[in-house]
Amino acid sequence: MSQSLSPNQKRILLGIESSCDECSASIVEYTPQSLRALSVSTFSQIDLHVPYGGVVPEIASRNHLETILGMIEKAVSDSGLKLNDIDAIAVTNRPGLVGALLVGVSAAKSLAYALMKPLVPVHHLEGHLCSLFLDHPNRNEIPYPMLAAIVSGGHTNLHVIPNGPEIWPRDLLKKTLIGSSRDDAAGEAFDKSAKILGLPYPGGKYIDELARSGNPKAYAFPRALPQKSTYDFSFSGLKTSIALEIKKQETLGQLEKEKANLCASLQEAIVDALVAKIELAIKQYGCKSLAIVGGVAANSRMRSRLNEGWKKWGLQIPALFPKPEYCTDNAAMIGAAGAFRFTQALPGVVLKPMDALALNAFSSWEVD
Ligand code: KG4
Ligand code: ZN
Repeated sequence: MSQSLSPNQKRILLGIESSCDECSASIVEYTPQSLRALSVSTFSQIDLHVPYGGVVPEIASRNHLETILGMIEKAVSDSGLKLNDIDAIAVTNRPGLVGALLVGVSAAKSLAYALMKPLVPVHHLEGHLCSLFLDHPNRNEIPYPMLAAIVSGGHTNLHVIPNGPEIWPRDLLKKTLIGSSRDDAAGEAFDKSAKILGLPYPGGKYIDELARSGNPKAYAFPRALPQKSTYDFSFSGLKTSIALEIKKQETLGQLEKEKANLCASLQEAIVDALVAKIELAIKQYGCKSLAIVGGVAANSRMRSRLNEGWKKWGLQIPALFPKPEYCTDNAAMIGAAGAFRFTQALPGVVLKPMDALALNAFSSWEVD
């Protein structure tokens, strides 16, 4: 049964995120008009994984275990509230690294049981979608359908979202998916290219920075799947072509000199591929708004291309992006998604403390 809240009634959620290499807890305040994080406490493990050039699952889970209670304590104390003030706990339980997810899920279950509070399992990608509504001045005025691009290190998905989060169906992500990457995710294409270029992990933001002083037309990297019959993406050919070009420039002794041009050109190829399908989908589905969420939403070229395009594409409002601090993984977005689900209270979505003890974690996102 949906809990109808009066405009000033609020719900307080503790969000927990541990699906990959960010260990995060947050206290989120939800009302029918507003949604804000009262605190966010995140430990990024990036420095631990840098020597390996990518996330090492075993290191990630062990570190989550050492960090999670500290993050929860800090989030609660920074919010000025007490643990008992929360109405429910929201935790990412899919998709992600299972060992890492289990740490957050176990902490959330124990707390739900100890406090006798309900537990809301959250889909990580639904969390990314809800990052959009955090601190949004008037989320109830966003026009739908909305084209939502979830562009992160693990996913490149296009969804046509029919209405606002208060009435999302339980299997929203599955129902609304129109296209995705057939191989590497866009963030992965950034990270793998950065690795070949000798840039630190995760490389997206370094490519973004270096690209500012480069020429995006210096190299013609491929844009895969240009046909209008699909909304899918493919980035693995691009990666191969970048690797070959880098090798060539290295042999010529020009790699250092050409780095900025290579970054600008490969970034343009990734952004071009994303923008082409976004534009196609907006037109085909008559979308009135557009949202980009996930780590790659922080990319400056992506932001400027989408900011330029919205009127031409017939959108009613400019492209929506989460605040930069909510683009990469964080628990505020999990608390936000949990708050919508908690208020909606569909059967089986909000778990009573005893039922919560049976909650599991899943690596795949297909479990809905
Ligand atoms: O959403 P996220 O934090 O984690 C996943 O759920 O995957 O996204 C991380 C991804 C990484 O691939 C990272 O390189 C990319 O987001 N990223 C960027 C930028 N900032 C982060 N990619 C391009 N430009 C950026 N400025
Ligand atoms: Zn993510």
